[in-house]
Amino acid sequence: MSPTPKRSHRLRRGAVLAASLLIVVAMGATMTSAATAPAAKSAWGHGTLTDANLLSLVAQMTVPEETGMVHGTSDTTCATTLPLGCVGQAGLIPGVARLGIPPLRMTDGPAGVRLSHVETALPAPVGLAASFNPTTAHLYGQTVGAAGRATGEDVWLGPMINEVNYPTGGRNFETLGEDPYLTGQLAAQEVQGVQSQGMIAELKHYIENDFENGRQSTNVAIDDQTLHETELLAFQAGIEAGAGSVMCSYNRINNLYGCGNDGTLQTVLRQQLAFTGFVQSDWGAIHKMTDLVSGDDIEQPSARNFTDAALADALTNGTPAVAATADYPAYPALTAAQWKQSLDTAIFHILSTMNQAGLLEGTEYGSHFTGTPAPWVPARPDLASLQSADAATARSIAEQSATLLRDDDQVLPLSKADNRTNGLLLLGPTAVAPYYGGGGSAHVTPYDGSASPYTAITGKAGGTVAYQPGYDLDGQVVPSSALSAPDPADNYPNWTLTPADAAFAGKPGLLRQQITTDPVASGAQPALATGGAPDQLDPTVDVTGAQSLPASTGWRWSGQLTAPSNPGGTGWQLKVFVDHQVSSQLFIDGLDTASRHVSIGAYPAAPASSYAGLAEAARSHDPANPNLQQATYSVTLTPGQKLHLDLRVVAGTSPAQVQLRWVPPDNQATSIAQAVTAAKSARKVVLFAYDDGTEGSDRGGSDQAAGLTLPGYQNDLIAAVAAANPNTVVVLNTGDPVLMPWASTVKGILEMWYPGQEGGTATANVLFGSVNPGGRLPVTFPAAANQQPMYDPNCTDTSATGNCPVYPGVVGPSPFLAGATTSYRTITGMQVNGIYEGYRWYDKHGVAPLYPFGYGLSYTSFTYSKLKATRTADGVDVSLTVGNTGSRAGSEVAQVYVGPSTGLPSTIQQAVHKLVGFQRVTLSPGQSQQITLHVTAQQLSSWSSTAGKWLEGTGSRTFVAGSSSRDPRLQATVTLK
Ligand code: BGC
Repeated sequence: MSPTPKRSHRLRRGAVLAASLLIVVAMGATMTSAATAPAAKSAWGHGTLTDANLLSLVAQMTVPEETGMVHGTSDTTCATTLPLGCVGQAGLIPGVARLGIPPLRMTDGPAGVRLSHVETALPAPVGLAASFNPTTAHLYGQTVGAAGRATGEDVWLGPMINEVNYPTGGRNFETLGEDPYLTGQLAAQEVQGVQSQGMIAELKHYIENDFENGRQSTNVAIDDQTLHETELLAFQAGIEAGAGSVMCSYNRINNLYGCGNDGTLQTVLRQQLAFTGFVQSDWGAIHKMTDLVSGDDIEQPSARNFTDAALADALTNGTPAVAATADYPAYPALTAAQWKQSLDTAIFHILSTMNQAGLLEGTEYGSHFTGTPAPWVPARPDLASLQSADAATARSIAEQSATLLRDDDQVLPLSKADNRTNGLLLLGPTAVAPYYGGGGSAHVTPYDGSASPYTAITGKAGGTVAYQPGYDLDGQVVPSSALSAPDPADNYPNWTLTPADAAFAGKPGLLRQQITTDPVASGAQPALATGGAPDQLDPTVDVTGAQSLPASTGWRWSGQLTAPSNPGGTGWQLKVFVDHQVSSQLFIDGLDTASRHVSIGAYPAAPASSYAGLAEAARSHDPANPNLQQATYSVTLTPGQKLHLDLRVVAGTSPAQVQLRWVPPDNQATSIAQAVTAAKSARKVVLFAYDDGTEGSDRGGSDQAAGLTLPGYQNDLIAAVAAANPNTVVVLNTGDPVLMPWASTVKGILEMWYPGQEGGTATANVLFGSVNPGGRLPVTFPAAANQQPMYDPNCTDTSATGNCPVYPGVVGPSPFLAGATTSYRTITGMQVNGIYEGYRWYDKHGVAPLYPFGYGLSYTSFTYSKLKATRTADGVDVSLTVGNTGSRAGSEVAQVYVGPSTGLPSTIQQAVHKLVGFQRVTLSPGQSQQITLHVTAQQLSSWSSTAGKWLEGTGSRTFVAGSSSRDPRLQATVTLK
């Protein structure tokens, strides 16, 4: 069945209920056969309970015990029982102590273990993907699995399986790239690595959550073949590797929410992929209690829909039918028995996964039952004992991720000779403020002490290395001379003024007022706090230290900013720096233009929070206020131009600090000029540049051209420096593709991704050649913003009612209620592109990328020979020989792609070629190695939406081997009958 609703919802739900009955019947059947023998040990699990034991546990649970298991709750053991108590994990379900069922604690990934204390920050997963190394992925998993267990956690919310489909997707850095085979191979190893330590892996976000803008509501339109031949393949690989859980996603898929979608959860996940673990919601992704019936087993982070009272009521009285609305289909009435069955099934999924992890041995059926409710769990290593080995792992993975994109005239590797007479110059803020990882729930707060690139390079260069920032990340507090307090006589509608405020009108500074902490509806004015502090004039907004805003108070500054006459140009950046806020918003010229405001809400919440996004542009580099977080708004201002400002801050449970800062155009010009002067006399320049990937928004908002551009004026800096020094090398810390208009003007480009806490050392090792780069691009880098898969030439208005259905989507006719319009947007990019994602799109449309998928250089060179493709019983074996013809040891990633089949119906989409095998081989100079890659029958098949199954692509099949998706070196053909 296609997840596309084809019949009325009533009929479809009937089918789903029948399906869930079947699951329970199947459980019963297993019970009879398994009752006599202990369950076989799985490859990763230790569980000794049989299905009959598990069903008996379910049967013994009271109603509150059952309902308590299907929603998250807060951890009440905080502070008393560390490390098993609350350590800032993302979620918890409580277990049933009476029966010996322990709580399940869940920590975020997928770039390490994210808790409220320091941990080893591994390179971002996209860097792991660049290693093209499944063995490394296994190690990555083992590392987080052991650290997770050491910190009292049981479930790791990773790996993230979503693909890079939108080149500006905010969480692209958390993915394993754009190709489902590569993602699947690495994810499977990560899962097995994590679970080998007794930690349950959770594949997320099921499914199609490849963008952040509007992620909590947007609908992804997708056809069945595309659904099956893109990221679902990687979920399949993770499930086949034994992943214990799956996180359903925020977005809708073909109009139904990810966590309430019978088609994707029941038909695809349970029936087609035979997933037997538990499904839990992304945090806040449940919208109806009936999502439990649709296939979600746990609501996180708390009972908003799966409430104990409502579930208990449903278990007694059932629930009535609900009519369709514009956003939801009709729901049939459900009986109490149906609810009981759904609840029991959910708990069975949870318990059977816990059993796999050896977490139920303290129950009466477990091998370690002691007669008391003290649960036995697999060993938890001592965290401190892991630290140094984990740091070495982080460094080695960062080194393996290093992807060399350009190396003209062998500008790299560097040598000490390059730094003679201080000949080496480092530029860019991220040379000294190391870029560890992206923001949001993947952000791991790293251990101290890892070297910055600057320090590590200095260590290798044999003496002091010159440095210039070349870029002003922080600017300065906006001076009072540029500010003026509001005048009630102006009648500006977005200022809430009292008659007394007339006393301040036009004076230098901004009016400060205390407001309530109540939520303010979008587009509305905040209410002034009754009995709050009297209104006052603040010459600047610079509230730090002893002046901090008291906890749990709300404040607003309003007035005008007048752009001074500034010879440096018209490009200004306005910045809000803040900490310990619940929210902070700067509205510029009114409330109605959403794009004209700066907002720091949940991301980051506060620097101390484990959720803090500490991406470079999101933090303060002011040594006096290092804990502030910043958000930036870039604006063009002509001299004398006026802006209305309205800055609101609500302090959290600690006193909050706030500053209003700016970077004037002449700061930009000055910093570039200083960099250029230094570059002119340098022998070589290494310039560090970055982009800022974070959860919650796509890069550039909805403006893909902006999102693909390096933030701020980095491109101007690079272009100016490249013009001043012919030996310029750019080191990129990006989480995904960026445009490089300067690419042909620099001699070297090294992509280090977000390299984790040891990234500085790894970068220096690669730059100086102690490590030979062998990473390959897991994503295509486009040549221009209008030459990438999600570019739509007709898109001019990205609002919900605009003309950009491909991305970021538009509202449209309701599929549920005739004549109604949905409140949510539908995004059609996946439907428009079909299976042609990533490099497949570039190939199909004949578009030349800047750097193709699979691409990467080395300090040595490799040859390919002896390609042979042989039919086997279940696919094709492809063998070839790779040789190192250079003078250094190095790693090559040999890649094999297959072309289309002539035997499939023309209605089936087929890639020009797709990746079906790869192997990273490390060879000494002169050494060669034969490798054999097995291509499975499914890889040679296409999904038929009409048949609802895989059809083998018969006929003549061509296999191409090379070192990227655009580097065909050898070709072999096999005929499949
Ligand atoms: C993210 C998930 C994460 C969860 C818990 C959500 O906002 O989408 O990836 O695991 O929060 O922190």
